[in-house]
Amino acid sequence: MTAEATHSDHIPPATARQQRYTAVAIALHWAIALLIIGMIAVGWIMDAMPGGPGSAKIAIIQFHKAVGITILMLTIARIIWRIMNPPPAEPRMPKWQSLLASSVHILLYVLMIAMPLTGWIMASAEISQHDTRYFGTFEMYVPGIPGLPAETREGIAEGFEQIHSNLAWVIIGLLVLHVTGALKHQLVDKDGLLARMAPGLFGNTAGPVDNGQGAIWAFGAAIAVFAIVAGVSLSAPPAGTAPPATTMAEENQTPASKAPAWAVDYEKSAIIFRSGYMGRPFEGRFTKWTAQIQLDTDAPANKDVPVDGYIRVAIPMSAAQTGEPYYDENVSQGDWFDVAKYPEAVFEVTGGVFKDSDTQYEATGVLTLKGAKNPVRLPFTLKIEGTTATVHGETTLKRMALGVGAGTLTAEKGDAEWVQDDVLVVIDLVATRK
Ligand code: HEM
Ligand code: HEM
Repeated sequence: MTAEATHSDHIPPATARQQRYTAVAIALHWAIALLIIGMIAVGWIMDAMPGGPGSAKIAIIQFHKAVGITILMLTIARIIWRIMNPPPAEPRMPKWQSLLASSVHILLYVLMIAMPLTGWIMASAEISQHDTRYFGTFEMYVPGIPGLPAETREGIAEGFEQIHSNLAWVIIGLLVLHVTGALKHQLVDKDGLLARMAPGLFGNTAGPVDNGQGAIWAFGAAIAVFAIVAGVSLSAPPAGTAPPATTMAEENQTPASKAPAWAVDYEKSAIIFRSGYMGRPFEGRFTKWTAQIQLDTDAPANKDVPVDGYIRVAIPMSAAQTGEPYYDENVSQGDWFDVAKYPEAVFEVTGGVFKDSDTQYEATGVLTLKGAKNPVRLPFTLKIEGTTATVHGETTLKRMALGVGAGTLTAEKGDAEWVQDDVLVVIDLVATRK
């Protein structure tokens, strides 16, 4: 008896007799912890990457979104599991420490929900460029958001992007407190706290009293939420992929063409423009636009007779982005795009689409820019795989002739040339036959 008592007195508090969280709680804790830390790193990396059609950035954003939604579902399961399986009693510690630890835990739970939810709301509100596909499969939108008017969605997207980005710092702050606390217990108090959350793989932690219960409720609820959102998303596709609403362009009649219609995959498509400023090339893109396309791609090639088809592309000029806030601000002004007066540019096929060879086409039409109509020929290549068409077209526009930035001369100023007259417009489009 005495011998036993002496023996147990010598067991340091930091070992085997500690109780652990359940295996499910431990697995979820570490899975979510690693995923969140990875997500912050990926979020920052992708933020700094150059975008564009088919770029790695778009692929990484898609991955980020799918992993983020997974974290949200795991967190739902974890919280339900936590309610059904209270954690083991706390090791002894001063009241303030215990209070601080629980507050940090509660805030971490809040952030584990808020972080993915804000990202997901932002992604659901973004109009044309960001489909949210779950690991390349089906679309997943926060229910209700895709049905909102475009301006409301834009406002939501901007606001939540800011919140999402700021919350990353909040979670980092909490994590620093959380890890400092855990390490203090482990290294200073030596109360074996870390072992409570460590997998029992190393034989140095006692198993929990039981394995816990309620897995069906916890994971079932998470899967149910997932299934409901997937179902709602599939039945209500976002407005960004719908044909454009009526616009200010006068020649907006219903197309006469009976050719098959093509649905543009805006995620994989882009309209960019390249020019030069003071001898340095710059590139910009339109972050938003809509295209209505009908084209009979099966028709035989004929250079003289157009194939059955109709194309209309509408671009809200406020969506022009050069990646340089200074240019963007200037470009929307009167001398340039005068967005306030002419909010939209439209390219519409009026002279037909010619199929010069199996893959080479030319669309002839009118570009309505700043209220003036300009004839434009747009040669493009079109490759078909199954029901998917990949289109690449380039055309050079003379901005001075289009009345764009007429006050900014292209004349030489010493060595430096001001904004170049030639503007190359590059269109990359991926569309599927409806
Ligand atoms: C983003 C990363 C992390 C998140 C979101 C997170 C979240 C949480 C939450 C919410 C709890 C409370 C569990 C409960 O009682 O319901 C917890 C407990 C715990 N965490 Fe983390 N954690 C993270 C990373 C870490 C890291 C890196 C460590 C290692 C130093 C760690 C060590 C612990 C320990 C030891 C406990 C158990 C505390 C106790 O026994 O009461 N956590 N964590
Ligand atoms: C725990 C989960 C998540 C974490 C920790 C996280 C973290 C981050 C971070 C650190 C950034 C960079 C912010 C910046 O630029 O300052 C970011 C950006 C972003 N996140 Fe998340 N995120 C999470 C979940 C999600 C989810 C669920 C979605 C959407 C479904 C999402 C969508 C986005 C988008 C669209 C961006 C901006 C990408 C860009 O345009 O550059 N995130 N995220």
